[in-house]
Amino acid sequence: MTNADSIEKRIPIWFDTDPGVDDAMAMALLFAIPEYDVKGVSAVAGNVELDKTFENARNLVAFFGRKDVPVYKGAARPLFREPRTATFVHGENGLGNMTLPASDAPVEKKPAWDALYEAAKAAEGELVLVAVGPLTNVALALSKYGSLPKLLKEIVIMGGSAKWGNASPAAEANIFCDAEAASTVFQSGVPITMCGLDMTLQTTMSPAELDRMGQLNPTAKFLRDAAQHGLAYSQAHGVDGMALHDPTAVLWPLYRGDIFAGEEAGVAVETKGTITYGKTVTDLYSDKQFPFKNAFVLLEVDKEKLFEAVTDLLKRY
Ligand code: BDR
Ligand code: CA
Repeated sequence: MTNADSIEKRIPIWFDTDPGVDDAMAMALLFAIPEYDVKGVSAVAGNVELDKTFENARNLVAFFGRKDVPVYKGAARPLFREPRTATFVHGENGLGNMTLPASDAPVEKKPAWDALYEAAKAAEGELVLVAVGPLTNVALALSKYGSLPKLLKEIVIMGGSAKWGNASPAAEANIFCDAEAASTVFQSGVPITMCGLDMTLQTTMSPAELDRMGQLNPTAKFLRDAAQHGLAYSQAHGVDGMALHDPTAVLWPLYRGDIFAGEEAGVAVETKGTITYGKTVTDLYSDKQFPFKNAFVLLEVDKEKLFEAVTDLLKRY
């Protein structure tokens, strides 16, 4: 599928995920980018329970033809809070109730945080971590391994928002699931790119666009079919389409300013508020500034170029 051999220096990537329908699309894109060298995938509880996200991640990796990439099991629940799933969007099984053949790849026994740390060490400061679920696995890895921040080149987070929320009026779902974990990650000192709702809500794919995508090949058709459950939910709530939240985070390390625009900001995660729990408070729209800038917050996306990239990459299957 890819012409990775001809690329001189590929970007070592780790993918932490809670598949998840948009996670599935993100993973399809991840494996279609020849510039990426995917070192591992870790599953976390989020959209559905951990047993399901782990199984989905394993089956998706196999479905996309990459059984050589190891998949690790992570945290079954947030650090302090009760788990909170999103089956109303992702279906009971997390993949819009579509089924995939069971992967026959060997089951990895190492915990996600240990595997991530080892991959970071091996990549000698070059590993890019793309995290598109609640940040529990990442926070556990950072807490266990004090040297990890220096070993990571960048953490790309799908999560947060400078403005509104989707899990509450204040908070985006991934941060809302485990704000304590998110707070640890934002304070880690690792360069962070925040792919939050400010940008991802500009990426809505209409039913017609999803259908067109589905006609590309069986892989794209699976992604289109899996999206139907969440699409019906969105439509019932006045949004006629599906936002490509997680796919944007996968595309950022390669496309950067070609597709996206943003600003450096101070970002802090609210962990105490009753109404504002999980809000990523930024100093972007404030007279008062935080005394730190710890994240690059994406605010704009060229939707046309984004869809073109998604289509081109999916055509590789
Ligand atoms: C995020 O929440 C999850 O439901 C999606 O997979 C995405 O990671 C969007 O808020
Ligand atoms: Ca996700």
